[in-house]
Amino acid sequence: MTNTEQKVALITGASRGIGRAIAMQLASDGFAVVVNYAGNTALAEEVVADIESQGGRALAVQADIADASDVTRLFEQISAAFGRLDVVINNAGMMQMAKMTSDNVEILDRTLATNLRGSWLVMAKAAETLSEGGRIIAFSSSVLGKSFPGYGAYIASKAGVEGLVKVLANELRGRDIAVNAVAPGPVGTELFFEGKSEEQVRSIANLSPFERLGQPDEIAGVVSFLAGPQGRWVNGQILRVNGGMV
Ligand SMILES: NC(=O)c1ccc[n+]([C@@H]2O[C@H](COP(=O)([O-])OP(=O)(O)OC[C@H]3O[C@@H](n4cnc5c(N)ncnc54)[C@H](OP(=O)(O)O)[C@@H]3O)[C@@H](O)[C@H]2O)c1
Repeated sequence: MTNTEQKVALITGASRGIGRAIAMQLASDGFAVVVNYAGNTALAEEVVADIESQGGRALAVQADIADASDVTRLFEQISAAFGRLDVVINNAGMMQMAKMTSDNVEILDRTLATNLRGSWLVMAKAAETLSEGGRIIAFSSSVLGKSFPGYGAYIASKAGVEGLVKVLANELRGRDIAVNAVAPGPVGTELFFEGKSEEQVRSIANLSPFERLGQPDEIAGVVSFLAGPQGRWVNGQILRVNGGMV
């Protein structure tokens, strides 16, 4: 079924965490939503069911964003199901703590594959697919401003993403497609809590003058702004959304 009136948004990594909150927010903004995920089919289908129960349209599509043929298939499935695509949000990502040792280079490779190669593949396909008025939103992290020990692989991948955002905004000159990134501070999701003690969580939460973690819907609200009519003049920017942490 196609409905050429309704705008369509793809959110990668939307089965849980920040991506799920973005999918719910954009559905309530009036978008038909594509819920991409890597392995959690049941969770992705739950997001689709939640959106449909509120009267929205959604489709779950499994695809590993680090795999070029998966990304091609993802965009083909969107075209077949909806016949259009207006907003692409590359939110999928991973984080694994690893000090800069020779033994840890494989963690660097895995992190770059998902966070940087994945961003390249999704943003490139978005650039080939979107038309005038389109929006591309990538994901960085405010931790770039802190350079904590153990974050080397993750920070390297997200610094790369910030570079790609600015280059792609320039490459799309004349096409009226905005390219931006959101760089959240710590947000209470699996990615953040994994491997941290309560004390570590408390001390990181206290980095913000608000003395708490961000919530996924506080990131989704900023994505909604960038994807919607109020955000149309924002281009080539990295929006740090972190309660004032950096
Ligand atoms: N949480 C934070 O504190 C924080 C701070 C700054 C930036 N960020 C960034 O915000 C984004 C979302 O983070 P989050 O905290 O919501 O993470 P999360 O809770 O761990 O969720 C990650 C999502 O990405 C999907 N995913 C992972 N690898 C994928 C791949 N190769 N292909 C497709 N999907 C993949 C997962 O799918 P499955 O469920 O199928 O595994 C899941 O939907 C990330 O880019 C992260 O770096 C997060």
